[in-house]
Amino acid sequence: MLVLGIETSCDETAAAIVRDGSEILSNVIYSQVKTHTPYGGVVPELASREHLLKIRPIVDQAFADAGVNLDGIDGIAATCGPGLIGSLLVGLTYAKALAFSKHKPLAAVNHIEGHIYSVSFEHPKAEFPALALVVSGGHTNLFWVESESGDFRQLKYKLVGKTRDDAAGEAYDKVAKLLGLPYPGGPVIDRLAKSGNRNAISFSVAKISDRSLDFSFSGIKTAVLRLVKENEKLKEDPQRLDLVASFQEAVVNMLWSTTLKAIHLLRPRSVMLSGGVAANSRLREIFAERTAEAGLTFYFPKPILTTDNAAMIAAAGTAKLMRGEIAPMDVNADPNLRLAISDRNFPDKRWKT
Ligand code: KG4
Ligand code: ZN
Repeated sequence: MLVLGIETSCDETAAAIVRDGSEILSNVIYSQVKTHTPYGGVVPELASREHLLKIRPIVDQAFADAGVNLDGIDGIAATCGPGLIGSLLVGLTYAKALAFSKHKPLAAVNHIEGHIYSVSFEHPKAEFPALALVVSGGHTNLFWVESESGDFRQLKYKLVGKTRDDAAGEAYDKVAKLLGLPYPGGPVIDRLAKSGNRNAISFSVAKISDRSLDFSFSGIKTAVLRLVKENEKLKEDPQRLDLVASFQEAVVNMLWSTTLKAIHLLRPRSVMLSGGVAANSRLREIFAERTAEAGLTFYFPKPILTTDNAAMIAAAGTAKLMRGEIAPMDVNADPNLRLAISDRNFPDKRWKT
């Protein structure tokens, strides 16, 4: 089954052609980062305007790279949420128009589910149940993922933990801005942190009750703000290098310690890491090391598939189309779309047993 994927939920206009949810024939990503850099973050109005300009050439490029045309595909998958409403509407409406004009089935894909599917390309035989940590600029969610089919064809999700304030990527971006570093902050901090001492400053991590699997990053961000106010020199290298390395260490520790709590509580067979922040070298290192110590398999996507892309949307959409979950033509974009809801009895029930 050949599927065209379209992703426009934030500041990437992306299109991809994927065969059977596993083989990427093309994967075109146009990043709007240059447009938003002067503002230090994504400007929604500018994002939707640029998606409008780029959607057609990017989709055409995906077809050209794959050597197929619209008649040759079996379905279309587009992100329908969560994300910026104006941006989502461009991709989803374009997908609907293509689907309608050529009588192709349409799949409306949750962006977060797309991120989870980004690990499926390299690990189609992943072990379930899994704990999936999705860490991006907009989200920090921990899901319990079960598979009814034993693979990626039919997954069921429970939300077991989420951030109570900023998303991890958002904290990276805000701290970078504070230190005069360009947007997006994640990749820059990741690079600079390699030359800093990660034990230079110890951040007290937010106290979250033992039973909760939630995350919090605003305390770490505020601590950076306070330190910089007290000592302007921290904005300059080499002090800045130690600061970003220590900040990164605190974020990675927050992500790992909560994931470890969930591992003890729920006993998954594997851990999946995805989303833009999953590109972080220290995060990957710690997760790879510690999951191995815990005797669990660790899955993460290739760097090109960590940040927003349409191949992951095509993969999640293919699973939907194969299950017959075809979206109606009046399907709408939902900026607050959820993948799963928290279940009060889960994981507490297991905690007690
Ligand atoms: O998944 P993504 O492309 O978009 C959203 O769905 O939000 O994630 C973008 C986020 C940004 O906050 C960016 O700073 C962060 O991912 N990011 C990183 C790295 N690369 C991207 N954060 C830490 N380390 C990185 N290497
Ligand atoms: Zn994303």
